[in-house]
This record gives sequence, structure tokens and C-alpha cells, in this order.
Amino acid sequence: PDASKGKKAHKVFFGRIIHSKSLTEIEILPKASLGVDDKGIIQFLDPNVDSAIEACGRHNGFANAETIDLKPMQFLFPGLIDTHMHAPQYPNMALGMEGDLKEWCENWTDPMEASYSDTSKAHRVYREMVAKELENGSTTVAYNSSIHPDATNVLADTCLEFGQRAVIGKLCILVGSTHGNWEKSTQQSIDDEKKVVEHIRKIDPEGKLVLPCIQPRAGSYVPPELMTGLGDLYRDSDPIRVQAHMCETPLEVEQMHKLHEGKFESYADMYDHYGLFGPRTILAHCIHLSDRDMEVMAEKKVGVAHNANSNTCLTDGWCRVRQLLDKGIKVGLGTDCSAGYSISILNSMRQASNVSRHLTIHTGDPAWKLSFEELVYLATMGGAEVCALDQTVGNFKVGKQLDALLVDVGLEDNINTSGHEHDDMALLKKWVFMGDDRSIRKVFVGGKLVAGKDLKG
Ligand code: GUN
Ligand code: FE
Repeated sequence: PDASKGKKAHKVFFGRIIHSKSLTEIEILPKASLGVDDKGIIQFLDPNVDSAIEACGRHNGFANAETIDLKPMQFLFPGLIDTHMHAPQYPNMALGMEGDLKEWCENWTDPMEASYSDTSKAHRVYREMVAKELENGSTTVAYNSSIHPDATNVLADTCLEFGQRAVIGKLCILVGSTHGNWEKSTQQSIDDEKKVVEHIRKIDPEGKLVLPCIQPRAGSYVPPELMTGLGDLYRDSDPIRVQAHMCETPLEVEQMHKLHEGKFESYADMYDHYGLFGPRTILAHCIHLSDRDMEVMAEKKVGVAHNANSNTCLTDGWCRVRQLLDKGIKVGLGTDCSAGYSISILNSMRQASNVSRHLTIHTGDPAWKLSFEELVYLATMGGAEVCALDQTVGNFKVGKQLDALLVDVGLEDNINTSGHEHDDMALLKKWVFMGDDRSIRKVFVGGKLVAGKDLKG
């Protein structure tokens, strides 16, 4: 194990530093230096220096900082952000792809989620799952849980213990589910969500890593009375986030309208009516949107978790990311396991790229294609915006927390880099499209080393 694990000291990195500045610009600094203080805050990013020592000398308080010199095939990259992941579904990954959303929920998801009434299962699964997310470079994850407050609290405890930034809530389900995977009453659902919010506020009072959210599974599972109660909880709580599914399949949209008595012009109007729409709202999927949906989403500044892998696996449809971006709607990437079969946001980038290209094949219009710069933005800064953490993480702007990966594409086992030793953008592309966790040597959250190949030796 690395002796520096968990130690917080001023650190200075020197070498190739890459991050996203906008949807159109990836900044690549081949000989840069980044300084992070003992609170995990980025204090400087010098774009052009000759050594870590030189940078240490230039900045007050950094004279005795720990220095980390990157090797020629290594680069520092922002931590990946998984804007949508179902913790309890982890054991079902790669299974159940035969059916559509409804069949998948009934045959695989409902029984698996129901099994977390046994809290010991949460202890077993969540440790392995959080470790895997971190090893794969996801420094921030927005987790869906199950209906169980105790299991959800275990998830929050685990993220805090492992040093992962996370958005966590208890799932609220009253109707429309199977295998007993629902709650006894409206009041119990609200009380249990409050219990989880209180637990998270207790274990991480300043919200340094773990942030609570309200989690209606989707409009088709939460009747008007419970949705009203969750809206009240949102209003009465200190800034709190919301995570929910929206417009995943035409059937699900229809079921939402039926449950809410045909009162709403659109799915977005429904969530907005109950007060659950705002800049801290994370909406998974958003595939079958009406113009009205998008109008409300843009006005209320909600964010979209785009889960290209799961949308393809369940044959939900294609999320029109280009259209969302054109309307100024925030978009990030999610893994959505176990409807998606990979826990890696690198895979989410590839699948988002492919879905956008399928839209071009389908329509003949090249405008649907997402550029490489856009894919990198969505995986980092876009995810930070969707989680309402863009002032905290997402890139290496001075003043933000250092959530970062030390990536090494020089390992011969998984990436063929021959001939590209001096092409910085090519190294990044090779990792994004061909690489995996084997190239992730160090994972930092808030400046603290929490995972990576180097930790395992
Ligand atoms: N809709 C309701 N529950 C789920 C879920 O767990 N995953 C996905 N993808 N969609 C859902
Ligand atoms: Fe989901």
C-alpha cells in the first residue's frame, strides 16, 4: 500500500495536465504544475513551468509540499462524475437484458431491490460497489438506493468511509412495483426519507462529501399525495437535491399521466407542480420529451443524466443530447447499472458517442454527433453541473476541490500507444476509447488519495 494514503498535505503535481474548459475546449498543458492545499483546494495551476520544485518556490506555503512528478505517458485528469447509478442493482449487472423496462423491473430489479430489507446485504454489496466506482475513476456519484432507510444509511456511511463524493437518497415507491418492493404508506415514505436526510446531515454536517437528496423513483410510482409530501420536504430542507427518472419509455410516460389523473400538460409540468424542479434536480433518461417538457426543463434549470448504455440495453430509445444542449439544458453522463452493464464512465462516453452517431445514421443529419470535446465535458464538468457541484469540482479551476485521476497510458497491457508519444490529445483519446481502470494509477477526492492501481501495489 502507498504510504501516503489518507495523508493530507500540500501537494504539487508537475507534468501533463488535461481538463475541460467548455463544451468546445479541452485544455492540454504538457508542462504544467498544480498545487493543492491540505484542505484539498486547488491553489494554483501554472500552465508552463520546468519542474515541481520551481512551482513550489513560486507559491507561498508550498516550499515543503509533497511533489508528484508525472511520467511521460501519464496525465492528470478531472475525476469522472457518474450522475446516475443504482447501488442495490450492482449484483444484477449484465443480467436481464432480454426484456424492456417493464419486464426488466418486474423480473430483475424489483426482487433485487426488495432484498435490501436485509441490511447486512447492503454492508456486503455497497463496500465492493463503492470501491469499484472509485477504481474506475468516478470521484462523484449520484446514487439511487432502495426503499430501505437502513440500507441507504449504510450506503452513505460507506461513501464517507471510502472518501467518495456522493448524492444519496432513499427511493420512494408507493404503487406500480412488484415483489413487495414498495412502501407501506405515504407517511412512512416521507418519514424514512427524512431519516436518511438527517443521518447524512449528522455524519457529514458540512456536506463535504455526502449530500442528501429526495428520490421519487418516477412519476408512475409516486401518487399525488406522496409527491406533494416530497415537494414539502424539498421546500423545508436546507438546499437539498432531487433525483428521479423521467420520460424513459412511452409506456412509463402514459402511466405517469394516468396516476396523476391526466392533470398535467407534460411530465415536467408534473414534477414542477409539486415543487421538485430546480437547479438541484437530476433527471435520468429524458428520452421521450415533448417540446413542453424541454421548455419547463430549461426554465427551471434542471439537469439530465444521460445513460446511453442502459437506454440501449432496455431499448428505451435515443436521448437527443444535441437538442438538450442547444436549449441550454445541463447534461451529464450516468452508468445506470444494472440497466447498464458497465460501471465505467469511460464506457458511458463511448456509448453516448455511439448513440449520437446512431441519431445521425437514423436522420442523415451530422449535427447529432457529439464531438470528443463534448464527451469529455459531459463526463466531467457537465456531470458537476447536473449534480449542482460545478463550483466545487469538474475541472482544475483555482478554488475548486481537487478531484482528479492520475492516468498512465504507458502500460502496455491495454492501450496501444506506439507512434503517439508526443501527441497529447491522442493519448487522451486512446484512454477514453480503449482504456479502463488499469490505467488509473491514483484517484484523489478533495486532494486525498482514495483509490487507484498504485494503492493496490
Ligand atoms: N425506472 C424505474 N426504476 C428504474 C431503474 O431502476 N432503472 C431505470 N433505468 N429505470 C427505472
Ligand atoms: Fe435508473
